[in-house]
Amino acid sequence: MLLFRVVPLLVASCLFFSCANEGIREDKSDQNGTTEQPRSMDHHSHARPDEAVITHMDLNVAVDMEARRIGGTASYRIKDNGKGRIVLDTDGLQIDAVTDGNGAPLEFTLGDSTLLGRPLEVKIPAGTKALNIQYHSGRNAKALQWLEPQQTTDKKHPFLFTQGQAILTRSWIPIQDSPGIRFTYEATVKVPNDLMAVMSAINPQQRTADGTYRFRQEQPIPAYLIALAVGDLVFLPVDERTGVYAERSVVEKAAWEFADMGTMLRTAEDLYGPYRWGRYDVIVLPPSFPFGGMENPCLTFATPTILAGDRSLTALVAHELAHSWSGNLVTNATWNDFWLNEGFTVYFESRISEAIHGPDYAGMLQQLGRQDLLGTLVQIANSKHPEDSKLRLDLRGRDPDDGMTEVAYEKGAAFLRLLEAQVGRPKFDAFIRDYFDRFAFQSMTTDRFLAHLQTHLLEPNQLQVNVAEWVDGTGLPANAPTPESDRFNKVEMEIRRWVEGTPAKALATSGWSTFEWMHFLRHLPKEMTEKQMNDLDAAFTLTKSGNAEVLAAWFEQCIRNDHDAAFTRMDEFLNTVGRRKFLVPLYTQMLESEKGRVLAQTIYKSARKNYHSVSVQTIDEILAWKDDKPPVNF
Ligand code: BES
Ligand code: ZN
Repeated sequence: MLLFRVVPLLVASCLFFSCANEGIREDKSDQNGTTEQPRSMDHHSHARPDEAVITHMDLNVAVDMEARRIGGTASYRIKDNGKGRIVLDTDGLQIDAVTDGNGAPLEFTLGDSTLLGRPLEVKIPAGTKALNIQYHSGRNAKALQWLEPQQTTDKKHPFLFTQGQAILTRSWIPIQDSPGIRFTYEATVKVPNDLMAVMSAINPQQRTADGTYRFRQEQPIPAYLIALAVGDLVFLPVDERTGVYAERSVVEKAAWEFADMGTMLRTAEDLYGPYRWGRYDVIVLPPSFPFGGMENPCLTFATPTILAGDRSLTALVAHELAHSWSGNLVTNATWNDFWLNEGFTVYFESRISEAIHGPDYAGMLQQLGRQDLLGTLVQIANSKHPEDSKLRLDLRGRDPDDGMTEVAYEKGAAFLRLLEAQVGRPKFDAFIRDYFDRFAFQSMTTDRFLAHLQTHLLEPNQLQVNVAEWVDGTGLPANAPTPESDRFNKVEMEIRRWVEGTPAKALATSGWSTFEWMHFLRHLPKEMTEKQMNDLDAAFTLTKSGNAEVLAAWFEQCIRNDHDAAFTRMDEFLNTVGRRKFLVPLYTQMLESEKGRVLAQTIYKSARKNYHSVSVQTIDEILAWKDDKPPVNF
């Protein structure tokens, strides 16, 4: 799908981690009523689930919007295997006390700090069943973005949201932060009286008088799916099972834009079985949210940049909804298996889109995704880590964020489309549906999936597929299905006419959707004259567009062709929107010229404070910022 692009320099990732969660081990526990499965090693968590593992969390915290601090108690039910200790992940947390279920103090130590944060090791006597940790978050906790009223849409109240994936939850909760460890949770969250809190759980729809909100997530989930948002939020239902939360001035627009949510949910269920999470709501966050969407259970977190006003960007909702099966129900066991989350989800998203909007629409979505993938593959091939174009990754010693590229999404989905084409849709659908049922609430390694694929799809149907090449080979195998779209052929015809001299306003663009505009803008000639840029802008009011996808694609052309009439609007866009997928290509493109380089540094200097830490980390690397400072030659 349409995603962020790979960052050219991945500096931070090369530091070594002092200690990783190693060794394949058998887990005889049956914490979730599911079948036994071996736990695979997760190099991105200090947790040692074979020694002691959390099974339930009860979080009791207060959110101090002024001090920018979350603090309180995290209580855990644990399953102890008598090894005398439990290890949790923390990152920048202050741990004040650790006690057992009876309130008796337990000895604890915090290990050295690495990119993984600091391990919290607690000594536990045999038979310990509960643990209470009194703590508070530190300055600049990576998961948290605290917004001043000025940085919100309504500009009256402060706002806070969290982003957990991949390893950020440990910066606001001491937790076993590994996607292979699942637990249920309850939370009591105290916020200022004039604000409302929502979480990745069953949520309140009304304000409380005292600012105390209670949540319960009854399905076992991994730590990266714990999420919290606090702000001047209102709720509007879309239908009985779905609805939207947003700031006051946004909520009606959001409810209109996402009117199809109920249909999407039913479509998804028709394809792959029941939705197991109760309600499905979306919260539209302020524009600094670093992603398009995040599949927090029961409550997708979304960027406002998908509110195009014409429902043209709602495939993102289909994507995050699809994660309720691929990702949240059957979860990548480690970040090396990330493609099992995202590849399946892109495939599923496209099936939902096809069912609702038809094959033409899904074809355009797939083509845009393929374009993104091909761009990413070139970058990866020329990077320090050409092996990142494999589906199965080896992210040992690196920030897992480095491996989260288009490859998992689009090469992953292409692999599944190939399997579908080989076996036929009815059999493939039955296979996928059974996969979600059979492995519900479990984690999945690439190996385990491949074994299942072999015995349940390939062998029974006598299929020969180059699975090893797809999963452990670099690049895109030659038998990748090519997405087709007649509607894009028509767009290309109009580009040819324009290049040959037809004025922009005479082109046959009526009825074009956002996807067609994106294709158009991506395929304009590399070099255009100022006269041509003005012709396009005057005919299609591109610089004034309210559609973030159109704007971002147009700005790329403006930078390349030095169309500075658009730079004020671009400056404003980059100062408000923190969605990494838009930031990376724009800042990268600006670095191509000396004038652009100065522009990029100038814009970033003021925009940086508006971005979440995950975007800051990426753009710092691109623009060579160190310790919150621009490069010296700037
Ligand atoms: N889970 C991802 C977002 C994510 C990925 C967060 C990696 C942290 C690390 C989410 O489901 C996603 O893929 N979002 C996409 C949108 C989608 C339509 C491709 C995005 O944010 O652009
Ligand atoms: Zn996703």
